[in-house]
Amino acid sequence: MGEIRSRLHLKNPLCLALDLADRDRGLAILALVGPHVGMVKCGSVPFLSWGREFLSAAEEAGVPVFLDLKWHDIPNTVFEVLSSLPSPAIRMVTLHAQGGEGMIASARQALNAMGENAPALIAVTLLTHLTLDEVQRLGYKSREDGVSRLGKMALSSGADGLVMAPGELRQARNLWGPTPFLVTPGIRPSGPAGSKDDQANAKTPREALEDGSDLLVVGRPLLSAHDPLEATMTLLAEIGAAPSPHRG
Ligand code: C5P
Repeated sequence: MGEIRSRLHLKNPLCLALDLADRDRGLAILALVGPHVGMVKCGSVPFLSWGREFLSAAEEAGVPVFLDLKWHDIPNTVFEVLSSLPSPAIRMVTLHAQGGEGMIASARQALNAMGENAPALIAVTLLTHLTLDEVQRLGYKSREDGVSRLGKMALSSGADGLVMAPGELRQARNLWGPTPFLVTPGIRPSGPAGSKDDQANAKTPREALEDGSDLLVVGRPLLSAHDPLEATMTLLAEIGAAPSPHRG
C-alpha cells in the first residue's frame, strides 16, 4: 500500500487552494504560506491569469503543486496534455471520472512514460455542490451510488486516487481500503475561521482525517483570514502537524 504516498512525500496533509486571479496577492501568499503546507492547488482561476508564474514560483520554492484543471476530454487530448506538463513542480493532477475509462487509461499511459516523476492522477467523482436532485438527473440513485460507481471505474482504469466530499470518505475506505489517495475539499476549520461559505456538509480537518482523507483542500478560510499564515499555522496545529513554535 501507499506507493503514491511515498512518491508524493508531502510534509503534511494540508493543501492550500490558491483560488486567486490577483497575481500579486497570489504570489505573495504562495511565498509566505507555500513552504508550510503539503501542497498548493492551482485551479483554473489562477492558472488562466498567472499560471506560468505560479508554476515557476512554486518550482523555485520547492512547493509541490496540485494542478486542478479537472480535464474531461477525448483520450487523445488528455494524453497530449499530460505528455507535456509544463513544470516538474506539478505533483498531482485531476480529471473527471465522468470522462470514462478510455480517457483515464490514456492519462495513465501518458504518466507511466514519466516513471517515478509522474504526478499522482486523481479522478473527481461527483462535484461536492451537486444536490440529490441533480445527481439523480445525471442517472445515479444517490451521491453514494455515484461516488461508488465512478470511483470504482476510475480506480480500475488507472487513477491513483479520488476527489470526493468528506461525508463520502468512510464509504470509500470501506469499499476500497487504504490504497487510494483520497482528496477532500469541503473542509472548514473549527472556530471563527470556519464559516461554511457554499460548502454544504463541510467537516473539520480532524474529522476528515479520521474518516480517511489524505489531503485536505482548503481555500477561502485561509485566503480570507486577516493573516493567512497564522490561519494556516492554526489549522496545522489543529491536526497536530504544526512544525515548531516559531515560524521558520
Ligand atoms: O471552499 P474553499 O475555498 O475551501 O474551496 C477549496 C476548493 O474546494 C476549491 O478550489 C474548489 O475546487 C473546491 N470546492 C468544492 N465544492 C464547493 C466549493 C469549493 O469542491 N462547494
